[in-house]
Amino acid sequence: MADNTIRFILNGDAVETEVADPTRTVLQFLREDLRLTGTKEGCAEGDCGACTVVIVEIGRGGDDVRIGTINSCIRFLPTIDGKELITVEGLRGKDGGLHPVQQAMVDEHGSQCGFCTPGFVMSLYALYRTNDRPSRRDIDDALAGNLCRCTGYRPIVAAAQSMAGAADHWRPADHAAQLRSIARDGALGIRSDGRCYFAPRDIDTLAELYESRPHATLLAGGTDVGLWVTKRYRELDTVIYTGGVRELQERRVSSSHIVIGGAVTLADAIPLIVDHYPGLDEMFRRFASPPIRYAGTLGGNIANGSPIGDSMPALMVTGTSLVLRRGAERRELPLDEFYRSYQVDELEPGEFIASIRIPLPEDGVIVSSRKWSKRFDQDISAVCTAYRLALDGDDVADFRMACGGLAETVKRATACERVLDGARWDERTIEKACAALAADFRPITDMRASADMRLFAVQNLLRRFYLETIADAPGTVYDYGR
Ligand SMILES: Cc1cc2nc3c(=O)[nH]c(=O)nc-3n(C[C@H](O)[C@H](O)[C@H](O)COP(=O)(O)OP(=O)(O)OC[C@H]3O[C@@H](n4cnc5c(N)ncnc54)[C@H](O)[C@@H]3O)c2cc1C
Ligand code: FES
Ligand code: FES
Repeated sequence: MADNTIRFILNGDAVETEVADPTRTVLQFLREDLRLTGTKEGCAEGDCGACTVVIVEIGRGGDDVRIGTINSCIRFLPTIDGKELITVEGLRGKDGGLHPVQQAMVDEHGSQCGFCTPGFVMSLYALYRTNDRPSRRDIDDALAGNLCRCTGYRPIVAAAQSMAGAADHWRPADHAAQLRSIARDGALGIRSDGRCYFAPRDIDTLAELYESRPHATLLAGGTDVGLWVTKRYRELDTVIYTGGVRELQERRVSSSHIVIGGAVTLADAIPLIVDHYPGLDEMFRRFASPPIRYAGTLGGNIANGSPIGDSMPALMVTGTSLVLRRGAERRELPLDEFYRSYQVDELEPGEFIASIRIPLPEDGVIVSSRKWSKRFDQDISAVCTAYRLALDGDDVADFRMACGGLAETVKRATACERVLDGARWDERTIEKACAALAADFRPITDMRASADMRLFAVQNLLRRFYLETIADAPGTVYDYGR
């Protein structure tokens, strides 16, 4: 299936280009090949948002489109095959005038040095397209992936508030039609200079490809893999992209489980999970930023296996299991048996996560997760915890707790769980459980927190969880601002 040419829409025009290096980023292509230098490079690791561009894809309905932002600095070029990109150069109207979003930034003095401005404008543009009347919280969330170091955020937020209601010309059906006109019949395969890139369309082809090339790099959203290239300068000889595999996009709720395919993005998975588990809302809102969540997948978070991955504590306490596939073989494994040691998991060579099965919540059971990091938005956790509590009157019928940031893998707090199981749910028991956490974890000191601070934080988070369960209205970080 080798055909080294990709096709996509860029600012309204169809573009066809030959890909020599499958790990060349969208940002490099825009700036160096096309000289579209409006999109900036700040960090090259998905953190600052200077490289933000808008991506448009055909929606599930066929005639509608989906719109989101991505960090072009860590996105590999072939993954935009068949999609539409909008950069800051594409916002001007036919008359050459500023787009309402850009005009709002001018009117509200939302820019000084201007380096961050194109990224902010693209995040605001995505918000403008998807939300007619954004609240202050919607605006803050939409801008969580953009850093400004000289203007400050107040005028940018004011621009976001004033752009609502201004009209431009946008017909989703036209974009969907244009996207259909460049759709590819078969799967994309690139071979160049000894490197290969495959983008299978169905799970059997993916399974066959990966089983026969177990040393290939599986690529989903690339929000971890992208940095291996841009920051660690790793050369990836063979890349298999999962983003186009139909079956891995599965999202459904059965009578017993939420089922999420191995390549479903966080942006698609989170609403489904939070709908059933509202106690996970705050943690997921603080998971990275909109562009990272629009690209990154839940399967990638689990498979990457970082000890500070945010989704895993919550998934562990809910009793989530993974459906794994290798060649024609399938097996199911509980998530809390998946990690062996630091970034070593149970996946065999050539095996991948086909889907994630999250049990539906039981009546009366409380599930909650708390993220503790230096910054509110777009920060990696120092500690992330999750709890599942079933009470029988004043006694604990079942308690589960899992933590990230305290050991070489995310893991259950089994000593703490033993103290609580069957005990009275009161302050005295909580203090004993806090003491047991010191037996569960021997955290390390690093740039995010000292070992002592980590332990102190996880104990306090448990105390706080207890207080929230006995309060009339459980508090969240949003209650006292960001
Ligand atoms: C700026 C920034 C902020 C971030 N913030 C957070 C945060 O707040 N919390 C957090 O937890 N993480 C965070 N991350 C990490 C990252 O975004 C997540 O881990 C994300 O879920 C990874 O998903 P992905 O699809 O991008 O994975 P990829 O980068 O594509 O892949 C990651 C790993 O998973 C493997 N993989 C992917 N899919 C499968 C599969 N189906 N089966 C088997 N293996 C697979 C890949 O081979 C690779 O080893 C952040 C990253 C960045 C760059
Ligand atoms: S350059 Fe900083 S997020 Fe891409
Ligand atoms: S205007 Fe200078 S960094 Fe934002």
